[in-house]
Amino acid sequence: MSYPVHRPRRLRRTETIRRLVRETVLRPDDLIAPLFVRPGEGIRKPIQAMPGCSQMSVDVILTECRELASLGIPGAILFGLPKGKDASGSAACDPNGPVPAAIRALKTDLPNFLVWADVCLCEYTDHGHCGPLAKGRDGRTDVDNDRTVEALARAAVVYAEAGADVVAPSDMMDGRVGAIRSALDGAGLSDVVIVSYAAKYASAFYGPFREAAESAPAFGDRRGYQMDPANSDEALREVAADLEEGADIVMVKPALAFLDVIHRVKERFGVPVAAYNVSGEYSMLKAAAQNGWIDEERAMLEILVAMKRAGADIILTYFAKEAAKRMK
Ligand code: PBG
Repeated sequence: MSYPVHRPRRLRRTETIRRLVRETVLRPDDLIAPLFVRPGEGIRKPIQAMPGCSQMSVDVILTECRELASLGIPGAILFGLPKGKDASGSAACDPNGPVPAAIRALKTDLPNFLVWADVCLCEYTDHGHCGPLAKGRDGRTDVDNDRTVEALARAAVVYAEAGADVVAPSDMMDGRVGAIRSALDGAGLSDVVIVSYAAKYASAFYGPFREAAESAPAFGDRRGYQMDPANSDEALREVAADLEEGADIVMVKPALAFLDVIHRVKERFGVPVAAYNVSGEYSMLKAAAQNGWIDEERAMLEILVAMKRAGADIILTYFAKEAAKRMK
């Protein structure tokens, strides 16, 4: 009887030896928590489709971020729910809106905690699209790219002036990273980091977020500006353009169905890559776990480590708090 020469199982026998040869280790430092800020005080309004997540008023956001910081999580990304919406999304640029108010409160009380501001108009437009609309030559209604870019640059300056460490444009308009970079630099805010949602796909996995941010498009969809899930060469072109325009960190979104894209971006460019573990990825795991169909903790950690193994340096995830607790 002959025995195999290679015995990979030797290195799998005990937890100690598995730890010794483990290639990818998740740390709380890898995580950024997405949070939804709304007006008011003492408000924590649960989001039905995202068990464990809530819309929060500024004071509650502050308490939440203290806890995140104590778990070693370096920062949070803020999405805003304004008091009122209009066709051009003007509330996105209101220095007294919920997002700037939360940024100021956080930077006062937790100066070392990184505050990211998502920059997009879809939470602020009454039609739910990512910018003001215009009719094209063929009569089709579409988001007006250049007017949107101007508004995004103004909003980015408002958030940066409030104290944001990072601005993260998630709109997918052409040329917005360059416009935001020059607006920030022109306002003396050259140290503000830009994380661009460079490869953002038109995904069904954003469904629960649209309840959370009250930003579902009133008509049509976002396929005229977000990417076709069938494409990955195009993602490399988007990333190259955003880096050229001044992005410091590039993001791939969603993460789970696009691990190959994360990998290609990391291999090709070697820059810091963020992956967004989006609302639908969170909710489907929560739903299966609530039914007793899956081990939530193990599935969560498996998904997150896969994103890091694929090449993500940073993971934006609604699991941030739960995951960090398991990493201690
Ligand atoms: C705004 C934005 C969206 C998400 C992040 N920023 C929604 C969308 O593009 O429709 C989705 C996040 C998630 O699903 O968790 N443009």
